Amino acid sequence: MTVHALEPLSPEEIKAAAAIVKDGGLLGEHGRFSSITLLEPPKGESSAPARHAVALVYDRSTGSASSVVVSLSEASVVSSTPIPGSQPAYLLEEMAECIGLVKSDARWQEALRKRGVDDFDAVQCDPWPAGNFGDPDEDGRRLLRVVSYVRHSDTDNGYAHPIEGVVATVDVGHQEVLRVEDHGVVPVPERCYNYTPDGQMRTDLKPLEITQPSGTSFTVDRNEIAWQKWRFRVSMHPLDGLVLHTVTVDGRSVLHRAGLGEMVVPYGETSPGHRWKNAFDSGELGLGRFPFLNSLELGCDCLGEIVYLDAVIANDQGDPVTINNAICIHEEDYGILWKHFDSHSFTTEVRRSRRLVVSSIHTVGNYEYGFYWYFYLDGTLQLEVKLTGVLQTMGVPPGETPVHSTLVAPQIGAPVHQHLFCFRIDFDIDGVENSVYETELSGLPRSDENPYGNALVPSTRLLATESEAQRLADPTRGRQWRVVNPNRLNAVGQPTGYRLVPGASAAVLLASEESAVHRRATFATKNLWVTPYAADEARAAGYPNLSAGGEGLPAFTAADRPLENTDVVVWYTFGVNHVPRPEDWPVMPVEYAGFTLQPFGFFDQNSALDVPPSTNGHCSSSS
Ligand code: CO
Repeated sequence: MTVHALEPLSPEEIKAAAAIVKDGGLLGEHGRFSSITLLEPPKGESSAPARHAVALVYDRSTGSASSVVVSLSEASVVSSTPIPGSQPAYLLEEMAECIGLVKSDARWQEALRKRGVDDFDAVQCDPWPAGNFGDPDEDGRRLLRVVSYVRHSDTDNGYAHPIEGVVATVDVGHQEVLRVEDHGVVPVPERCYNYTPDGQMRTDLKPLEITQPSGTSFTVDRNEIAWQKWRFRVSMHPLDGLVLHTVTVDGRSVLHRAGLGEMVVPYGETSPGHRWKNAFDSGELGLGRFPFLNSLELGCDCLGEIVYLDAVIANDQGDPVTINNAICIHEEDYGILWKHFDSHSFTTEVRRSRRLVVSSIHTVGNYEYGFYWYFYLDGTLQLEVKLTGVLQTMGVPPGETPVHSTLVAPQIGAPVHQHLFCFRIDFDIDGVENSVYETELSGLPRSDENPYGNALVPSTRLLATESEAQRLADPTRGRQWRVVNPNRLNAVGQPTGYRLVPGASAAVLLASEESAVHRRATFATKNLWVTPYAADEARAAGYPNLSAGGEGLPAFTAADRPLENTDVVVWYTFGVNHVPRPEDWPVMPVEYAGFTLQPFGFFDQNSALDVPPSTNGHCSSSS
């Protein structure tokens, strides 16, 4: 059977790739696999090429990383490239080891005893990416920082009982606790705050069921999905999460690839227990890996007629781990699509909207991130992130009011923070050669041509180079970005295109220019960056783990390459400025963020006129 060039690696292929690396002598005694993924074929290669995998290999004894490309068809190593200075995402075994090291450290135990905590087995230790603050002690070490919480039972919510002011810094390379900081005793809040179904539940919710008696309107063939005029492929990547490939509508190309290019969660609390918290959940932790990637069979995450896809991800040893039901595919009703009541003829035409939803959910420490791609009947494509889970917490002395945190319960502060997501979107509008324009609406001063002063001008400005294409959103002017194919014109003579609509969540990094996170997450200081396509420019912050910064987009764009009528990649950053509220506690109702891609002159008119009216039985309580 022929395997499509963009099909994810099978369990057998992951095993084979790991074996080729080992047999080639490229792993070493202390070598681990940070990731093994399909090496996606070069763009424009239409004939199914030989299958290649790329393994990111990390040696725990030397701290060196290399990228090994193997040919699965030839069972051979194609290349092995050292990546000097880079630190791939933490290994699972490193996170587990560091908890053991901390719990047996006498300094840490002493700090906890000072707080009246002596049942160390009942303490929840959370390892955090250490970041890079230029401390000479920390230079060249592979570090995690550990903060702790008391649990009153196995399922008790530890975040209700933060052990404030104790931070252990662990060198997982040398397997030692570098230091334990104790910044002073704050009483551990005693009261439990749980969210399990104990106590009185409301009883007046009647079942709400979705049935599709004739089946779904989509088909899934391995990783290819077809729904209405859409055709695309989907995969799960250990760093990029849920990825769309070769998205076409009505047989015309829209995107080559879209997925998470990086994300960062900078915390704004200045106290020493928290001021170093800046999680890059993609590049430092690999949110698409086990156990972060959720198996959706274990909850009630989707409603209706669902088709699931499994994800197969390599673990630290290079063995395939299958996460069952990792990707959920289903259809949702979405209100009305379009309507008009003609008051002259007393006739009404109305069509219902629905969307195809492709989603996954990832749990990283205290937070859940759901990524939802929505495909609509009129050619619109939307990305929504759903944020939920439990807030980071901080113990607050009774009677005090923190400045950079909000009180969500007595003695429990939640530091203010941002969640910033950068999506890498490789547009191919009607082909590979595209240009990007910034569009907005402006008023004009009164003049002979504008005698009433009412003139509004929609401006369209070419972003001709990488430096011109580093932009901020401006909702007051309705600023958007339009990706067009200048070689293909629509019925009114415009280039065919799609526009990126920022929406309300166009956040950027707010930490000062002198901060470490500003150097390491420079991608997040702009909403928009555009680069010409380069196969090796995949990650917006490069390898961010423990890095001093400067990698990724600032480095990619340093040569200020031209962008007009070329293969463009758009990097869009958005997010949530999260000032926690009491209602986010003890578990947070979903917060939403995202962006929309809408056809703009891609079609010659409303492309959903052909959606048939709904029959009565399916749209009203027909009597
Ligand atoms: Co938050």
